Amino acid sequence: MKNFSNYDCYDRKEGLAFESKCVHGALGCEPLTGSVSFPIFQSATFRHKGLGESTGFDYARLQNPTRQELERTMAILECGTEGFAFSSGQAANMAVFSLLKPGDQVILSDDIYGGTYRLGADTFHTYGITFTYVDMTDTQNIKDAITEHTKMLFVETPTNPMMKVINIREVVAIAKEINAITVVDNTFLTPYFQKPLTLGADIVVHSGTKFLSGHNDTLAGLVVTNRDDLAEQLRLEIKTHGSCLGPQDCWLLIRGIKTLALRMKQHNANGIKVAEWLRTQKKVKNVNYIGFPDHPGYEVNRSQATGSGSMISFNVDSFETVKKILSGVDLVIFAESLGGTETLITYPRTQTHESIPEEIRQKIGITDTLLRLSVGIEDADDIIRDLDRALNA
Ligand SMILES: Cc1ncc(COP(=O)(O)O)c(C=O)c1O
Repeated sequence: MKNFSNYDCYDRKEGLAFESKCVHGALGCEPLTGSVSFPIFQSATFRHKGLGESTGFDYARLQNPTRQELERTMAILECGTEGFAFSSGQAANMAVFSLLKPGDQVILSDDIYGGTYRLGADTFHTYGITFTYVDMTDTQNIKDAITEHTKMLFVETPTNPMMKVINIREVVAIAKEINAITVVDNTFLTPYFQKPLTLGADIVVHSGTKFLSGHNDTLAGLVVTNRDDLAEQLRLEIKTHGSCLGPQDCWLLIRGIKTLALRMKQHNANGIKVAEWLRTQKKVKNVNYIGFPDHPGYEVNRSQATGSGSMISFNVDSFETVKKILSGVDLVIFAESLGGTETLITYPRTQTHESIPEEIRQKIGITDTLLRLSVGIEDADDIIRDLDRALNA
């Protein structure tokens, strides 16, 4: 590892394992003082020595050293060239959809985070951009939806909340044929398990609120690309919209990412145990978990990711059982989010996916008996004991 003394050059840590890249970031230590914990640069503006002279930092909406360290770290982890840190996952998606122009069409998976759906249906739709939702597990559906205006294919894999797996390589191949951009929301698996840019995608987007920060304590969004033209547009957007992440939250992300690999291993191990246990329960009708060898997307996931994560959705026998579980859990927390150290249980119908029209929810399977679990890193047996008590007591 080189010992840099300024901000211009940083180490991409080529040759190091993912775990080491997470810990050591881009610069790692702050170059001027040697501070091992990268400092929070709580400054809105930066002093100029003279006209036309700059330290490389001018005004914090354009760039801030703490944000730069986070953005470079994410670019390294996602195997991209440039990263951008936003105030939330929604702000990150907002920037991605802002790459489109009136008249353009974007094709998305029908099973998608409710906020992403709302961005299309309520915001960008009014600017003349068409959002077409299809079941992307069958790529023929994408081909059938393509028009001369298709400019972007937007993928979540696994999907939220039904845990369907979409073949990133196949989507990329379709996009390349029509010169469209492929965007992958990598929130559920993170670059620890899946690196969409290495599979040909153009942009990766994250709700950094989830596994990346990992402690249910901050909102953040991340975008990474390996295309200079897109990076230039995204840079202009973050500068213009002012939707950048503040330095304190950037620091929380930098710190969270240091343990990303460790946490993801534990999330994955716990996810498998809890999903298997759920399957044995009489009141549980079906369990959607991409780590099950009989999951329809298991082989595709294995071909493009190295793990299955800890997101599970499942149906119980009645709405009464839903209410019983949600009021009965204790260690497991009934709250709306995912990817943190604590196990969270969510009711998609009225929480994460409330914005999706009822007829679409029914079609996808977001019914009144569906629950979503984000399995945390507690002891798996404690999680199971708590669920067992809430479900069966
Ligand atoms: C897959 C996915 N993408 C994007 C978002 C939006 O992120 P945020 O809540 O950080 O704005 C979420 C939020 O739950 C999500 O689950």
